[in-house]
Amino acid sequence: MTMPFSQACENNKQPILEVLKTAFSNLDTVLEVGSGTGQHAVYMAEHLPHLVWQPSDQALYLEGVKARCHDYAGGNLNVPVELDVTQPLWRVDAVDGIFTANTLHIMSWMMVEDFFKGVGRTLSAQGKLCVYGPFNYNGQFTSESNQVFDGYLRQRNPDSGIRDFEVINQLAENLGLYLVTDHEMPANNRLLEWERRL
Ligand SMILES: C[S@@+](CC[C@H](N)C(=O)[O-])C[C@H]1O[C@@H](n2cnc3c(N)ncnc32)[C@H](O)[C@@H]1O
Repeated sequence: MTMPFSQACENNKQPILEVLKTAFSNLDTVLEVGSGTGQHAVYMAEHLPHLVWQPSDQALYLEGVKARCHDYAGGNLNVPVELDVTQPLWRVDAVDGIFTANTLHIMSWMMVEDFFKGVGRTLSAQGKLCVYGPFNYNGQFTSESNQVFDGYLRQRNPDSGIRDFEVINQLAENLGLYLVTDHEMPANNRLLEWERRL
């Protein structure tokens, strides 16, 4: 099959890695939700060899993720698994880290809530959650380009759109997740890093 490719992933993987190096430094296993092209999975597994990285995605994207991960020679990248956040039971082992990039603005709000329910079931007591993407603050876009992007998303699918940081943070806090750092990232993106304290 044709290998899926995202130029945005190529651009953001290094800045994301720089944050995860510290955020995930004490972890063993990380579940990635919505791996997409698999580029982040391969890059993070390669550069964070202390971690076992578990890629996942919906059935529609899974073959592409598998194709990308197939050629990785290291032993710390698991075979990608099918995971739709709406599944009442995620068929994955408990993990001490969860990562997702550019997914919450694609999912419907119900799916976003399901994502956090799944995180609550899957993440260990002292685990870390890292979410990368664009967010609004105090109901405001952080840039004109994000506003244009949001318009494009909503035209394509009215259930999608850039999420409010404050509402997302509340969903996280409901699970005992406390914001460690809201990292500013290139191209008006953020990387939100939470730690679970149960
Ligand atoms: C814009 S792509 C981002 C892919 C990749 N993480 C990246 O940063 O390039 C959005 C991803 O969200 C995933 N996604 C959307 N709805 C989902 C759901 N209900 N369950 C799991 N993943 C979902 C898609 O399958 C896709 O991989």
